[in-house]
Formats: sequence, structure tokens, C-alpha cells
Amino acid sequence: LGGAAGLTALAAACSFVPRDPIVVPLSGDPRPLHVPPLARSELDHRGRRVFDLAAAAASTRFVAGTTTPTWGFNGTYLGPTLRASRGEEVLMRVTNALDEATTVHWHGMHLPAVADGGPHQVIEPGGTWEPTWRIDQPAATLWYHPHSHGETESQVNRGLAGMFLIDDDAEAALALPRHYGVDDIPAIVQDRTFAADGTFVDDGHNDAGLLGDTLLVNGTIAPYLDVSTERVRLRLLNASSARSYRFALDSDQPFALVATDGGLLPAPRTVDSVQLTPGERAEVVVALRSAERIVLRSLPQDLQAGSGRSRDWGAEDTFDVLELRAASALTASPDLPSTLVEFSPLDPADAVRTRSFRLSGDSINGEEMDMSRIDFAVTAGSTEVWEVTNGHSQPHNFHVHDVRFQVLDTDGVPREAERESWKDTVYLPPDTTTRIVMRFGHHTDVDVPYMYHCHLLYHEDNGMMGQFVIVEPGGGQGAVAHPGHGH
Ligand code: C2O
Ligand code: CU
Repeated sequence: LGGAAGLTALAAACSFVPRDPIVVPLSGDPRPLHVPPLARSELDHRGRRVFDLAAAAASTRFVAGTTTPTWGFNGTYLGPTLRASRGEEVLMRVTNALDEATTVHWHGMHLPAVADGGPHQVIEPGGTWEPTWRIDQPAATLWYHPHSHGETESQVNRGLAGMFLIDDDAEAALALPRHYGVDDIPAIVQDRTFAADGTFVDDGHNDAGLLGDTLLVNGTIAPYLDVSTERVRLRLLNASSARSYRFALDSDQPFALVATDGGLLPAPRTVDSVQLTPGERAEVVVALRSAERIVLRSLPQDLQAGSGRSRDWGAEDTFDVLELRAASALTASPDLPSTLVEFSPLDPADAVRTRSFRLSGDSINGEEMDMSRIDFAVTAGSTEVWEVTNGHSQPHNFHVHDVRFQVLDTDGVPREAERESWKDTVYLPPDTTTRIVMRFGHHTDVDVPYMYHCHLLYHEDNGMMGQFVIVEPGGGQGAVAHPGHGH
């Protein structure tokens, strides 16, 4: 193959249609950012905090003149923000009022596998599922979404997603903005394409999945937020199917990164931008001066993808995300603390096992997700290193249920963005190997697995997922259908 004709042939063979970068300013008709309500809860006679969530079909008016068929939890699109404290026992009463089966997964939560809400905890139409567990992890910004086998993208994209905030004493003792909806703001970032009749376009996948041309934050197009305090904490969640974002401020001013997926950093870190691939979260604190307007935007990013195809994955796109409009008189916010929480690095030398995973061709280690195959068992309380290879020239990421992990390096190079932080989802640059280290918890169950998978929902649905169980030391291996891929 040579020259333009060769490239064209190659492009056709890959069904790769180059597209122009899109630049979407906050334009038209700015709207106040919708802030999802905090979910109501009550304590039952056993002292458990009980939440009610109902998934149902509805319609939502995103733009004047049309309505969009959507799904939501306790509302027409997305769901309320769940909030509970470390040490509390929660009971979630999840009702499925849809006409198809679904599940609700608590992404980032450390909990028994039967409560995890993965593809095995199916809620049939009309059914109710009532998982219960004790919150046993540090303060963090988690989220919840369906995890139906093969249907996750379509169910999330129709609107089933919400935030789940965990509080603890360590976080509460810090001078961080924490007044929900005032200076502590959830920002669920999604991209969608609207058809002329208002419906979401749900076809036209490229290799990464479905990319939209319109940004929604908490379901609001072109949102602005009236800010009344000198500092505002944004809890950013990439709840998109395939698109990655690199969040920055149009004022070029740096901001403070205070937390990643698994909780607070040891100290605020001054950054110019933060990249989030699907499923990842970051908490950032932005300082404002009176009457200032600052636009949070997503800038072109280096996904380190080969062959110029990053354009296809939207990496060259620029989106305005959210305009912050400071009041002319701002309430004083305390200075950010210079330190946050203690960070204990996991030592890869403590790992009892190193496992290798290779993501390519809709599979992991050559096998597509099979609900009836448990890929391996890990030992409760043990430390493992996982070497996760992206064997493609396209982006993937990697999410592990139940545990928080630390990112050691990619191709031997330490990762600055993930330095001294807890993650549950990590970006895998094309054709590289990323090492993560984690210590498993003690919720053993030889029968019910946790998932690990690419969080680009199209890939996940296509089978880029596997299952593991956590077993007692020396126990349960016999129950595992296939031994893993360790060495
Ligand atoms: Cu956010 Cu296995 O998922
Ligand atoms: Cu992927």
C-alpha cells in the first residue's frame, strides 16, 4: 500500500471515517446547571440508612421545542445524589419500572459481591432488589449505573446514572468546600447527539464507541453555575460512553486537584488540566474573584494513539463544559489545607501474585466475557500487581470492582497524573502496559464474581470484561472454573 489510494484502502478496511475536530462553545441559550437533588433516606429499625431508587422511562426537555425519551432514577434523567458516611449500613431498595431487565452497580464501592450490582444481580421488570452493606472506605465521589450484560451502554446513555458520595471524619475535618449545591457541585459530564426530533442518536459507533456532539452536565446543555463563594469544589465524573475529556479553565489559571476516584490526595495538587476517561472522577477546587466568569472546558488531548486516529476518538475536540459566574460579592472561603489525608503507598514487593491482562479485539487475554466463566480467584487480604496491556492502537481503560488501586507506571514510566492517588479506573494508552497494585478486601464469596473491564461502554458490552472471586486464604480455588492468567 502506498500513497493516498493506499491510505484510503486502509481506512476503508478499518471502516475508519476521519472526522473534523469539533469545537463547541457555550452558546445559544445558557441554562442554570441542574444540580441533582440529594436522595432522601430514612433509618430503619436496625439503624440502616434506607434509600429508594426507581428506574423508569420518561421524557426530558433538554432543548426548547422537543422532548427526548429518557430513563431516570426517581426522575426523568439521571438520578439523585446518594450520600452516606463511612461506618453506616445502607439498604438500597431498587425498583425496576422499565420494560427490560437492568442492574445497578455502585461504581467504586467496596462491598460484598452479591451487593455489587454487576451483571449477575439482575432486576427483572417490576422487580425490586435490596442490597445492603456497611460503608467501609474513605470519603470519595463514587457513582452508580446499570451493568446489564451487553446493555450497559444503551441503559446508561438513556439516562441511568447518578453520583454516590461517601463522607468520613477525615474529610469533614478539612477546610474544603462541602456545602452541596452551593460550593460543592456534582458535574456528571456526558456527550450526546440529538436527532431533529429530539431523540438521542444511538447508532454510529466508531471503534471507541458512541461519541456525541453535544455536552450535558447533569443533563443541562450549555450550563452556567452562579457561584457565591471564593472557592468552589467540582466533583467531575466522566459518565460518557466513549469520550475522554481534558478539563481546564479558559482563564488558563491552574486549579487544585484534591481527590481522584478512590478519595482525597495527600495534598492538593496544582494542575493546569485533568484528564478523565469514561468512569473516572476527579474533585477539583477552583478559586474565583468577584464578578469573574470562568469557563471550564475540555481541551484537545494526547491520547498517545497511533496513526493519527485520535481525531476519530474525539481527542482533538474542544468543548465548553460549564461557565462559572461569580457573584459581585463573594462569601469568603478558607484557604485550602496544605495537607489532606495520609497516603500509604502499597509496596509491589508485597504482592503474592502478578497477573497479566491483555486488552485487544473485544477480549481480555483472548477471551470474551462469559457470565458462566470465573477467570480466577484472589485471596482475601492479599496484595497483587496487575500488568494491564492495551494491545491496540486505540484507547482503552481498565476498571476493577471492589478495590481501590494505585498506579505504578506505564511501560516503566511513573504516571504523574496518578501519583500518590487512589484509583478504580485507569487510562491505558495504546500499545502500552500499565502496572497497578492493590490489596483485596475480605468480602469472600466463591460463587459470585466481581468484574474487571474496559469502561468504554461499547467495549465492555462487546465482551472486554472478565470475572474474579475473592476467597479465604487457601480456600475456594476448586470452585473456579478456569485458573487465571497469572505467572
Ligand atoms: Cu462503572 Cu463495572 O463499572
Ligand atoms: Cu476499551
